[in-house]
Amino acid sequence: MPGGGVTLVGATNVDRVEAPVTMRAYLMCAFAAFGGIFFGYDSGYISGVMGMEYFIHLLTGLDPPPAGATADEKAYFTLPSWKKSLITSILSAGTFFGALIAGDLADFIGRRITIIAGCFIFIVGVILQTASSSLGLLVAGRLIAGFGVGFVSAIIILYMSEIAPKKVRGAIVSGYQFCITIGILLASCVDYGTQDRTDSGSYRIPIAIQMLWAIMLAVGLFFLPDSPRYYVKRGKLDLASATLARLRGQPAESEFIQQELAEIVANHEYELRLTPQGSYFNSWLNCFKGGLRKPSSNLRRTILGTSLQMMQQWTGINFIFYFGTTFFQELGTISNPFLIGLITTLVNVCSTPLSFWAIERIGRRPLLIWGACGMFVCEFIVAIIGVTDGSNHKAVSAMISFICIYIFFFATTWGPGAWVVIGEIFPLPIRSRGVGLATASNWLWNCIIAVITPYMVGTDKGNLGARVFFIWGSLCVLCFLYAYFLIYETKGLTLEQVDRMMEETTPRTSAAWVPTTTFAQEMGLTDKGTLDPAIVEDVERKGSVV
Ligand code: BGC
Repeated sequence: MPGGGVTLVGATNVDRVEAPVTMRAYLMCAFAAFGGIFFGYDSGYISGVMGMEYFIHLLTGLDPPPAGATADEKAYFTLPSWKKSLITSILSAGTFFGALIAGDLADFIGRRITIIAGCFIFIVGVILQTASSSLGLLVAGRLIAGFGVGFVSAIIILYMSEIAPKKVRGAIVSGYQFCITIGILLASCVDYGTQDRTDSGSYRIPIAIQMLWAIMLAVGLFFLPDSPRYYVKRGKLDLASATLARLRGQPAESEFIQQELAEIVANHEYELRLTPQGSYFNSWLNCFKGGLRKPSSNLRRTILGTSLQMMQQWTGINFIFYFGTTFFQELGTISNPFLIGLITTLVNVCSTPLSFWAIERIGRRPLLIWGACGMFVCEFIVAIIGVTDGSNHKAVSAMISFICIYIFFFATTWGPGAWVVIGEIFPLPIRSRGVGLATASNWLWNCIIAVITPYMVGTDKGNLGARVFFIWGSLCVLCFLYAYFLIYETKGLTLEQVDRMMEETTPRTSAAWVPTTTFAQEMGLTDKGTLDPAIVEDVERKGSVV
């Protein structure tokens, strides 16, 4: 028994390293995807609020222009750029640090409790923002809420990847991306509904509503089990076995559960022998060990995760979601830019579910390669139409159509794909920090792009207009090369098998890799077919001193 060493039957058959799953268990794994709503809503609602009359008056003291004023006459009535930039980017600052800290905490207090803590921090931030009627409190509230979003966005990916069955892991994590898109849509609908109010409800309602998502996620997670892999990391194998049993809908004594757990334990021991844990500082340092030359080294995996999220931002998707409305307004041919914003958001929501199927059937690697291709072709077409005939009504309609096709490609490939892959490529000893670092990179680049884009397209600055799509198109060419040379195919494998596959193949040969042995078999089985008790004891002992 635990403490005295759990007895675990180990699998020698590579198909027996994961227990069969019930429908209820699938639903439990899928619930966490709900956390994506935070991400989407919180990054989506603020642009609408910053355009609201009441809000601008509150933060600037300016009176709104009289009815019938021309566009030029209205131009003065806006927040100064530094305020806009501060209000928008302070969230990313919070999320950046939140993701990093959460990656750390998730190994100490567990994945589930870290997410619940993130929900509470978020609620505190939202209360401050709702109560605010000045810049200071609003900014402080957004910083704190950002912290919470950072916790949730990093650890949800970790949690979902760790609890989901291998066959649907990609689809379930894509569910998270789907919720991000719903969050963005909800934000624009709520903004639309309150924008004409002439009281503080105009901005307080969109802000306060977010508390609902946090409460629902925290309450739901309260009833879900933690990740069995977290318990293995902490050496609590009895809890690992009980939670795995709940997640798979099988009794803990079942051979299936024992074999799956034995595999996780044996893989963890294998990784610990390669990179011993050591002190707290050392465990951070482990993310950067192993050298640049070895593709499966921890350093290479950390670079892969952080650069993948950087590339996802480089696709230019947030140019459309953050600045799309302004861009279409500046083209001057569109009478209702808000409507175009709504259409692009809807295309994003409606296309994403296709990825649930595609990510498991077609695979991560082809999806990222062909997705990047689709995006760069669309972006170059938009740029070419824009520079050749950008003021013609029909040409602008064609540009919008290609932007929608571009969004379709993003939503079915790089949108979910980047999140799915970062949940899969790290070995257990560095997984939570690795996912935290990769998520922090997403927010960092999100912020950098939000800050520099206005300078690229602003009519008084770079004034690139449609030419900006040449830049996004070229960056998508880089995404294509990146995916071709660096992305491994991970579909259908357990996280432990992904770990082995990355050691034995290259990205280009990875799709053909099939597991031939199990970790349990390799690390040592007794005559009775159970995992060597010395391994079990070692994992229990090392886990208790993490
Ligand atoms: C990205 C976000 C983006 C969203 C759009 C996410 O995967 O990380 O930056 O706004 O997709 O759907």
